[in-house]
Amino acid sequence: MDQSTVSPGGRRADAILITGAGGEVGHGMIRGLYERGARNIVAIDLRELDAEIRAMCMQTVVGDICDAMLLGRLLAMYEVREIYHLAALLSTRAEFTPETAHDVNVGGTLGLLRLAAEQARSHGVPVKFVFPSSIAAFGMPDLETKARHPKVRWDHFVMPTTMYGCNKLACEHLGRYYMQHYRQLAKDRVPDLVDFRCVRYPGLISADTVPSGGTSDYGPEMLHSAAKGEPYACFVREATRIPFLTMPDAVSATLALATADRDQLRCPIYNLTAFSPTAAEFAEIVRQHFPNADITFDPDEQRQAIVDSWPADVDDSPAREDFGFAPKHDLETAFAEYLVPRIKARYAAAE
Ligand code: SER
Repeated sequence: MDQSTVSPGGRRADAILITGAGGEVGHGMIRGLYERGARNIVAIDLRELDAEIRAMCMQTVVGDICDAMLLGRLLAMYEVREIYHLAALLSTRAEFTPETAHDVNVGGTLGLLRLAAEQARSHGVPVKFVFPSSIAAFGMPDLETKARHPKVRWDHFVMPTTMYGCNKLACEHLGRYYMQHYRQLAKDRVPDLVDFRCVRYPGLISADTVPSGGTSDYGPEMLHSAAKGEPYACFVREATRIPFLTMPDAVSATLALATADRDQLRCPIYNLTAFSPTAAEFAEIVRQHFPNADITFDPDEQRQAIVDSWPADVDDSPAREDFGFAPKHDLETAFAEYLVPRIKARYAAAE
C-alpha cells in the first residue's frame, strides 16, 4: 500500500471497498461498478488480482480481511463510503475446516461491519454495506418437505445444515443488528451508521470463471467441462433441483439493490433467482449446445444431502417489487445468448 491517496491537507480519498475481489462475483462486481463510472475502487484479496481487474481499481491490496492491522491501515488512508463484502469460504470447502470458515466468514464480516460503523461515525455519512448471502442459509428438513414447498420465502426454513449456511445466516443477522440496533444502550449512540443491504444468491453460473469449493458447482462444472471437451461425472442425482442465476444478472441485481432508495427496501434480506432446472435438465441443455458432451451421474451422498437441503426454488417477488429485479436470462437465453457464445470464444482463444 502506498500513501498517494492522502492529500497534503490530510483529507483521505473516498473509496468503495471490495473484499474477495479475485473471486467469481468480485470480478463481475468490479467490472460492473467500473462500467457505471466508479473510479475509487479499493480491492482486497488474498492473491494478486489479474491485470485487467487491477486496471479498474484505484488500489489493490493483497491481504486477509481478518487482519485487523490491515483494516486499520485502510482506515488511515481512505474514507470508505461503500463496502461490497464478497470474501468467503464456500459450502463444500467450509465443511473441511469449519472453524476456519467461521473465522473468515463471520469474523471477517464482523470486522468489516465494525469498520463501516467507525467510518460512518468519522465522516458523518452512513456507510453502505452490501452483502451477498446465499441459498445455503436455508435448510429444508427432508425431500418431502422440499417437494411440498417449491418456492420458499426468505424467512421460511432458515435451518442451514452447513457451516457456510450458518455463517451466512449469522452475518445476515449481524448486518441487521449493525443497521438497526448497534450499541443500543450506549449514551453516546449514533443511529444509522451502517446501511446494510443483503441478497441471497442461488447457484451462480458464469461464462468466464468456474467456482471452487461450492456445492452448486455441478451446474457450472458440467458446462465448462463440455466446452473444454472433458468428461464430467455429476456429483448429484438427475432429479436434483435448485435455483440458478447468471453472473451478469447477479451483478446487476446487487448493484440495483445497492443504488435503490433506502425507503423502497422493505425486506432485510432479498431472495434472487431466474431458473430452477433439475440436474438432468441442465445436462440436457448442455448436450443441445455441445452434442459431444460426456456427462454421467455419480452422486456423492454427502454433497447430495447438502443440495437436498436447499429449496427447489425461492420467492423473489420482494426483490422484483422493491428494486426492480428482472433477470435478463432464463435457462434457454442464458445458454444461447450468454454462456455458450462466450465460453466457446474463451476456450477457442485459449487453444
Ligand atoms: N454457490 C454456493 C455454494 O455452493 C452457494 O451459495 O457454496
